[in-house]
Amino acid sequence: RKLLLVNGVNLNLLGKREPEIYGHTTLADIEAQLSACAAEHGIELICIQSNHEGKLIDDIQHYGLLAPATEQVDAIIINPAAFTHTSVALRDALLATQKPFIEVHLSNVHTREPFRHLSYLSDVAVGVICGLGHLGYQMALNYWLVNTYNINL
Ligand code: DQA
Repeated sequence: RKLLLVNGVNLNLLGKREPEIYGHTTLADIEAQLSACAAEHGIELICIQSNHEGKLIDDIQHYGLLAPATEQVDAIIINPAAFTHTSVALRDALLATQKPFIEVHLSNVHTREPFRHLSYLSDVAVGVICGLGHLGYQMALNYWLVNTYNINL
């Protein structure tokens, strides 16, 4: 029983980076809170962040497909950050795993610059959450708890 939380480029700066858009909560806070919530239900949350597209793809391939079955995750929560709008490679890696994923954005990308309106992932995601700040990650986790593990919240 494992889930994967993936955060992309620049999200290591959460809390310091444009807080009026992305909030004051740090990535460490988000990862700690979600890991604790998952652990309460007997689920391990594996958290990765990288500023390097290839590193994210290596990790997604590993936890989604290449690792022994017992080490693989059941589902993924991903905020690809700017890679959302650029990366066919990330899309292909997620599709290769055949693991269901939820796309999360802290900000409402649809109220922002036009280049943020295109996502290479949304049409193959189970769902997309945006504009709800760090609570969006919690909602994505809740979805997997209910739908993958039949946990009553
Ligand atoms: C983001 C939105 C992206 O457009 C942006 O490049 C980010 C963060 C968000 O969480 O709101 O870095 O994914």
